[in-house]
Amino acid sequence: MSLRREATEPDHDGGRSPSARARQAQGSWARDAVIYEVYVRSFADGDGDGDGDLLGLVSRLEYLADLGVDALWLTPFYRSPMADGGYDVADYRAVDPLFGTLEDFDKLVAAAHERGLRVVIDVVPNHCSSEHAWFRAAVAAGPGSPERARFHFRPGRGETGELPPNDWWSVFGGPAWTRLADGEWYLHLFAPEQPDLNWTHPDVAAEFADVLRFWLDRGVDGLRVDVAHGLIKTFGAPDPVEGGVTDFGGAETPFFDQDGVHRIYRDWRSILDEYAPERVAVAEAWVPLDRLARYVRPDELHQAFNFEFLRTPWSAPEYRQTIDASLRAMAGVGAPTTWVMSNHDVIRHASRLAAGVGGEPGGVGSSDDATARADRALGLRRARAAALLLLALPGSAYLYQGEELGLPEVFDLPPEARQDPIFARTGGALAGRDGCRVPLPWSGSDPPYGFGTGSSWLPQPPEWAELSVDAQRERPDSTWALYRRALRLRRDLGALGDGELRWHSEPDSAVLVFERPGAPGVVCAVNLGSEAAAIIDGSLVMDGSLVIASDPLTPDGLLPPDVAAWFTR
Ligand code: GLC
Repeated sequence: MSLRREATEPDHDGGRSPSARARQAQGSWARDAVIYEVYVRSFADGDGDGDGDLLGLVSRLEYLADLGVDALWLTPFYRSPMADGGYDVADYRAVDPLFGTLEDFDKLVAAAHERGLRVVIDVVPNHCSSEHAWFRAAVAAGPGSPERARFHFRPGRGETGELPPNDWWSVFGGPAWTRLADGEWYLHLFAPEQPDLNWTHPDVAAEFADVLRFWLDRGVDGLRVDVAHGLIKTFGAPDPVEGGVTDFGGAETPFFDQDGVHRIYRDWRSILDEYAPERVAVAEAWVPLDRLARYVRPDELHQAFNFEFLRTPWSAPEYRQTIDASLRAMAGVGAPTTWVMSNHDVIRHASRLAAGVGGEPGGVGSSDDATARADRALGLRRARAAALLLLALPGSAYLYQGEELGLPEVFDLPPEARQDPIFARTGGALAGRDGCRVPLPWSGSDPPYGFGTGSSWLPQPPEWAELSVDAQRERPDSTWALYRRALRLRRDLGALGDGELRWHSEPDSAVLVFERPGAPGVVCAVNLGSEAAAIIDGSLVMDGSLVIASDPLTPDGLLPPDVAAWFTR
């Protein structure tokens, strides 16, 4: 792989350089980076209050450097009432006391850079918290005030304005409008505690330009743009047909993927380009691949999460189609493709891939029998194979904390422990996303398994002792050992990372076999069928030497079902 640390080692000067554009034309560090998502509240608790925090993360940076990832993406740690896990920001320039202080953040960036790890932070521009100073001022100032113009306030329909201004729904369930005591309604595509900002108001753009610079000046290497497809709304368009509360943007709606969002990212790109070393941005946009490519045109953001890949069911022809479509779509605009299996919004893939549930955000319904179908051994086997698939594909890979431990989804959290607003807003019809956010097990035989010295904000299952980092370090065949080895190989084998992909298997084959050309070339084979397959000495790989397999091959060298392997040739 071609992340050249010597040449691009992060420095902390926060400086700006006129040559940034020229340097970027040669290729970005993010083109083939492995970026590890840290869900800060659940990673490591430094002060024993049961919530993960920035100093907890600092104390575990060595673990991440040793694992072999290139960068961290931190979920929001800003001042927040935590109505949506911190995606409800009350102050964009302050660290919430739950997570630490600004000084802790500076320490984190410095300590990460010392270890060659880049730091990407979450930016939440679509909405703020109802506790944000702007929203409080808007509520106090009343209808028609300039303070309200920074949000989407409207009178209601009906004789006395008792009906919401239109029928838009909240992604978290229920209507997207809430009425204030003075009779006006305000828009929130997510929870009522997350009022949408009006991006056609000049104050909003100016404020975010300043917020971006605030963090870029502190040395962050990149931004993850939350709900990147939501910032511009088309009022007055016919109401869309509701796509379901788990729909983060699949259906065509007047509040997602409107053309106006791209102007914003062009402005942001010019801010990012003022900085050296290079700063990048990744879009979270739940839109089809052809639309997604528009977010990563040369003068917009650098990457976009590939949710099509995350949503692909365990089927070789379907993966092949998604992989080809992804590469095609991104190549069309010269952007790297990304590959992602899990994040803090979806069911962990070590459960999902066996349960046959989709990768939609929102969690399973409480009446769903996914728990029963989530065969633990099968899910883990597929997740291990998926890791080798993901890390062999050309482009950049996103990992979600705990997937390197093969953590399953926790389906059976008690209702009183659940904190995701999706659970409450759907009256419990959907379980929500807490099951993928359970704090990590680090060591020991009892909860909180070294997560901290106190408790953990979500309960950890009793069987997680054997999944802890320490327990897995002892076992050469552990999932942690597999990820660590694969990440090392991905760095060492020049054919992996950015570059070309050549299929060896047929489009309808149950075994995916592709080559990453190089010297040596690397062949990745993944068996998604139900029978062991001949790959060496068969027509597929010919004479390669095995470098890593997600589970053992058969004694006569066949690739068993749900196993992936890499060969050099
Ligand atoms: C993004 C985040 C999700 C959050 C939502 C609203 O989809 O990943 O966790 O709830 O935006 O900010």
